[in-house]
Amino acid sequence: MTMLQEHLEPAWLDAFETVLLRCGIAPDDTVAVLAESQSRPVLVQLAQAAAARLKARSFTLVLPTPFEPNGPPARSTGASVAIQNIAPVVAALASSTLVVDCTVEGLMHAPELPAILRGGARVVYVSNEHPEALARLAPSDDGSLELRVKDHVKRLRAAREMRVTSAAGTDLRIALQGAVAGGNWGYTTRPGTMTHWPGGLALAFPAAGSVNGRLVLAEGDVNLTFKRYLERPVDLAIEDDHIVRIGGSGLDAELMRSHIAAWGERAAYAVSHVGWGLNPQARWDSMALYDKRDFNGTELRAFEGNFLYSTGANEVAGRHTRGHFDLPMRGCTITLDGVPVVEEGRVRA
Ligand SMILES: [Fe+2]
Repeated sequence: MTMLQEHLEPAWLDAFETVLLRCGIAPDDTVAVLAESQSRPVLVQLAQAAAARLKARSFTLVLPTPFEPNGPPARSTGASVAIQNIAPVVAALASSTLVVDCTVEGLMHAPELPAILRGGARVVYVSNEHPEALARLAPSDDGSLELRVKDHVKRLRAAREMRVTSAAGTDLRIALQGAVAGGNWGYTTRPGTMTHWPGGLALAFPAAGSVNGRLVLAEGDVNLTFKRYLERPVDLAIEDDHIVRIGGSGLDAELMRSHIAAWGERAAYAVSHVGWGLNPQARWDSMALYDKRDFNGTELRAFEGNFLYSTGANEVAGRHTRGHFDLPMRGCTITLDGVPVVEEGRVRA
């Protein structure tokens, strides 16, 4: 069945219009649609049409996608390099009401983001998914996800230690002193803030020297850089933030050892962010239903009750690398100062 043609479907346009409305866009606001040559064309068109429906004043910037001649292919970094510090581009985005970020990787960790936010712009990254997935995960009418994420971020910010355990053998301790915690629910109305769609995550970037223990990826857990469900366990020993041993006899462990080593830098082994998913509309099994080229995996970062462990760049810890693994895990218990927020993969109210 060919149901995923990239056509301007009215239902998908409705979803984009909902997100822009939730971002507070009103007639005569300025909406910048940011794209690059490798952007998914239908996402750019949907963003433009939604801005037009809302009678916003919109413009589109399309930058050439840069390609790194050396090193392994980078995926799922959340750090778009499309802007290349071009000052007039930064100025145009910074002075817009809303930037609809249709870059492939997103501006979350782009070096230009602070300057864009300082100008007062809101930024919403449209994850590089097929629009059918975005529409399924458009903000709900009741705003309950926003309230839920805010509540969990408050708990995370108040905690001194996160502990993660699982039947598979995970036993991880994360000190939260000095961490920067936040969350997102898929839209933002506050000038100078960024979010991404789909949303539904609470997470923290730990300070240097905060993470120690054992992380056991079990069958059915996910490596989103490879867009692959694990079929064989991978046993990670973590000391002083860094993976010091990748145990496991299967292809999943071998692929991780190979790709992480290809970056040739110690920071690629270190923790980027830790957190958990809170979006009840997001599904763990959805990756099985999409072609890789139609899938960026934000739904699997956000599904309810997953523990999301990530390696790679962490500005809070002062580490920079292009290598990045996002590893959503099922069935974990997450406690904050001994109080469970997720119990065996189920979110505690
Ligand atoms: Fe990540």
